[in-house]
Amino acid sequence: METITDVQTMQERCAAARREGRRIAFVPTMGYLHEGHLSLLREGRRRGDLLVLSIFVNPTQFGQGEDLDSYPRNLTGDSEMARSAGVDLIFAPEARDVYPAGYATYVQVEGLTETLCGRSRPGHFQGVTTVVCKLFNIVQPHVALFGNKDFQQLAVIRRMTRDLNLPAEIVGMPIVRETDGLAMSSRNVYLSAAERQQALALIDAIRLAVKRVGEGERRADALIDSVRQRIEREPDAAIDYVQICHAETLEDMETIDFDSVLLLAVRIGGTRLIDNHYLFQEV
Ligand code: PAF
Repeated sequence: METITDVQTMQERCAAARREGRRIAFVPTMGYLHEGHLSLLREGRRRGDLLVLSIFVNPTQFGQGEDLDSYPRNLTGDSEMARSAGVDLIFAPEARDVYPAGYATYVQVEGLTETLCGRSRPGHFQGVTTVVCKLFNIVQPHVALFGNKDFQQLAVIRRMTRDLNLPAEIVGMPIVRETDGLAMSSRNVYLSAAERQQALALIDAIRLAVKRVGEGERRADALIDSVRQRIEREPDAAIDYVQICHAETLEDMETIDFDSVLLLAVRIGGTRLIDNHYLFQEV
């Protein structure tokens, strides 16, 4: 396994691999890897001959007052985990090389980015699509893997890939949860013990909604009310959104069907957590 920080070197290595007929599988991350990232890497290992992991805390997807400076970083630990997952190349560039002085080009997906996290984090998805597009141009993957936990991000990246005719297959992978149900996230490290306990309200609320669907409830507003009530029982919880959306269009639904996804963003203390679940699927 090799770690490359230089953009041009990385691009040349990947271009050469493509010329040699190697299939490039790519997992873009911001590092501080956990079991969720490892599941992407294992699947990438299965799907490609050259497995590339990028580790880059992308400044353009953080808003003012967000956690860019405190975002957890551990390149040594990440490298060990990457090696154990069979990664061939780690790409870990510096921000000044990804966005050199005078940088002026951004990728914007319209519509899908205007709801859910896009509402509370203006500019976030423009930062995500810009960096993912740049990373795709550098790594030139045949297949790129993302977690379903960032449900909207995945939908936005799929749309960008389709709209810009980027030659990469996009694969979404299931959410990986702790044994008690909390969705794995690099940001979980911010939670105090008491907050970690309260964070279980998200999975509890999802289970409650799925149970009510099993009992026959189909009205989105009734399900949303139950979810909100469950989360609001926690003293340090502040709901950013609870929505039931169509999985592809991300439009709000009034009556649920098999394409309905429950999406949540909740602050527990100072930590913003997201989670989601298809309402007709067992949890
Ligand atoms: O999901 C993430 O970790 C980031 O948003 C991504 C896709 C690596 C872009 O910076």
